[in-house]
Amino acid sequence: MLTLHNQVSNSTNFFGNTTPIELIQQYGSPLYVYNEEIFRTRCKELKNLITYPQYAVNYSVKANGNLTLLKIAHEEGLNVDAMSPGEIYVELEAGFSPEQILYISNNVSSNEMLYAIEKNIMVSIDSLSQLELYGKINPNAKVCIRFNPGIGAGHHEKVITGGKKTKFGIDPKYMDEVKKILKKYHLKVAGINQHIGSLFMDSNNYIEGVKSVLSIAEAFDDLEFIDFGGGFGIPYQKLNHEERLDLNELGCRLDDVIYQWTKNYGKQITIKIEPGRYIVAESGILLGTVYAIKQNYNMKYVGTDLGFNVLKRPVMYDSHHDIEIYRESNKPSNQSEIVNIVGNICESGDIIAKQRELPEIFEGDILGVLDAGAYGYCMSSNYNNRLRPAEVLIDTNGHAQLIRRRDTLEDLMRNFQF
Ligand code: LLP
Repeated sequence: MLTLHNQVSNSTNFFGNTTPIELIQQYGSPLYVYNEEIFRTRCKELKNLITYPQYAVNYSVKANGNLTLLKIAHEEGLNVDAMSPGEIYVELEAGFSPEQILYISNNVSSNEMLYAIEKNIMVSIDSLSQLELYGKINPNAKVCIRFNPGIGAGHHEKVITGGKKTKFGIDPKYMDEVKKILKKYHLKVAGINQHIGSLFMDSNNYIEGVKSVLSIAEAFDDLEFIDFGGGFGIPYQKLNHEERLDLNELGCRLDDVIYQWTKNYGKQITIKIEPGRYIVAESGILLGTVYAIKQNYNMKYVGTDLGFNVLKRPVMYDSHHDIEIYRESNKPSNQSEIVNIVGNICESGDIIAKQRELPEIFEGDILGVLDAGAYGYCMSSNYNNRLRPAEVLIDTNGHAQLIRRRDTLEDLMRNFQF
C-alpha cells in the first residue's frame, strides 16, 4: 500500500495492528473507527485540567453516545451530562450512577422531567416556565438552574449557546422571579450551570463566561456545584498545522479564578466542566470508499459513500475535516488537484469537502475523514433509506472490535405497522 497520504493517522498509529483497507474489507463501507488510546488520553488531559480538588469532568454524551465509549469514560473516572431520557437510559446502562449524571433539560415535558426525578438524577432547568413546572411536580427538592451569562462562543452561529441570540438559559435579570418560584415550591438550588457554545480555541471567552457565571452564583448562598459548560476546541486543520488549545494556560487561569472565588464564597464547592468534542473528536476517523470520479463542467467530483447521512457537519456548518487517502495498489498520486468530494445522497449540497486541494484520488481509494468522532455517528441518519454505518474500536492492544453493527435493511422496516 502506498501510504503517502496518511500522515496524521500514521503519527498516532491510529489503526493499530490493522489498516483502513482491511477494516473496510471486514466491516464494510462507510465505517466509523475509534482509537481507545486517544480517547483515554483526552479523558485524562481534562481530568488533570485544574489543581482545584473538588472537580468533575462531565463528558457531554451528545458528542458520541456509543455504549462502549461511555463505559471507557466511566472507567476513566468521568461523569456525564444528559440531554434527553434516551441519553440517561444509555448512561445508566453504561454503569454511571444517578449522582454522576446531570440532566440538562431544555423545553421538556413533565414526563421527561419525571423520568429523571424518579431516578434521583439532578435536573438543570433553563426557563422560568420550566422552573414552575419542576416546582409543581417535585416540590421541596434540589434543583440546578442554567443561566445565560450573556457571553457566547462557537465555530458557527448555530452552536453559540450563550449571549443575546440564543434560546438557552435564564437571563440573570429575572433573578427576582427565579427566587419567587424557588420560594413558592420550597426548592433548593444545589447548582448552577451554563454552556456558552461549542468550540473555542483561545481561552478568553471561556474565562469571561466563567467569571460571569461566578458572579451570578453569588445570588445563592449554599451552592454545592457550579458547571462551567463545555466547548473546548480541537484543531480540525491539522494538515495546515493548526495549534492545539493551550490546556495548561486555560487550566492555570481557571485555577486562579476558582481559588479566588471559593475563598470569598466561604465554601469549597464542586466545579464541573462539560466537554464533548474535545474528548472524542480526535478519537474518530470516518472511512469511506471512492466509487466514481467525474468532471462536471469545471469541477472534478470524487464520488463516495460519504453522504451527509453519515457525517452532517460539513453540510450543516460548512465544517472542515482533513482528509487522508489510503490505497492498496502502489499507484502514485503524481499531482494534486482541486476537487469536490461528494456523497451518494440526492441533493447537490451533499459535499463533504468543497474545492479541496488533495493528491490525485482514484476509484477504489479509501478516504479517511479525520476528527470525526464527535457529532459524527450521533448526527447520522437514514435519509434516502441508507443504512447507518458500523462503529469499530481499535483497542489499546491495537485490535479492532465491532462496537455497533451496521443497520440492516430489516432495521428500516422496524417501526412500520402492518
Ligand atoms: N453542554 C451543553 C449544555 C451543550 O449544549 C453542549 C453542546 C456541550 C456541553 C458540549 O459541547 P462541546 O464540548 O462538545 O463543544 N453539532 C455541533 C456541536 C453542537 C454542540 C451542542 N451542544 C458540531 O458538530 O459542531
